[in-house]
Amino acid sequence: MAPHHESLFKFSPKLRLGILASGVGSNFEALVKATRDSFLQAEISLLIVNNPNCGAVNKAISLGIPYQIIDHRSFPSRSEHEQQIINAFQKSDVEILVMAGWMRIVTSLLIKSYPDRIVNIHPSILPSFRGTNAIKQALKSGVKITGCSVHLVNEEVDSGPILVQVAVPILKEDNQESLSAKVRKQEHKSLPIGVAIAGKRWREANYG
Ligand code: GRF
Repeated sequence: MAPHHESLFKFSPKLRLGILASGVGSNFEALVKATRDSFLQAEISLLIVNNPNCGAVNKAISLGIPYQIIDHRSFPSRSEHEQQIINAFQKSDVEILVMAGWMRIVTSLLIKSYPDRIVNIHPSILPSFRGTNAIKQALKSGVKITGCSVHLVNEEVDSGPILVQVAVPILKEDNQESLSAKVRKQEHKSLPIGVAIAGKRWREANYG
């Protein structure tokens, strides 16, 4: 790896990450790999999922990452669900939160608890194709390039400051499956970089 990259990803002590996932968990897995390869000097302190049957749980078990299932259906309100999540991350001393396929809209409660410290990954070049079905939206629109964005989370969906973007060309023969796979591959590379950038900013602002 080039020397300027090495310093970007160095954290001493290691950056403490909290992950939120709802789905397959491939971005979560990519982050775990990045920390184990020492590509990113971080540790995953806690994974929280809202869906007990999601793939991310199985990955956490096989990778030996601590996880908690905090099912939104067991809470009377969105804010009580979020408060439980905040409590769990605070207990684990998490510095940066990563929404790695978190399929819930977050409110100001969570955002204000971790200002400029929540990172999201989205499968488009924002501000194009916000919201769900970003790949489908891109295919339907006829654009020739899409990709992925890693950004900080603010109170508008898929709208916070962008940390990393990677472009993926859309070929004539691409369909939902082939394009998703190509975008996903780039997500796995860009998410650890975005997390490192957010972590550096946070450490520099708080510990000089
Ligand atoms: C990714 O495409 C991400 O951009 C979106 O949800 C998907 C999660 O995939 N927010 P995975 O669960 O990490 O495999």
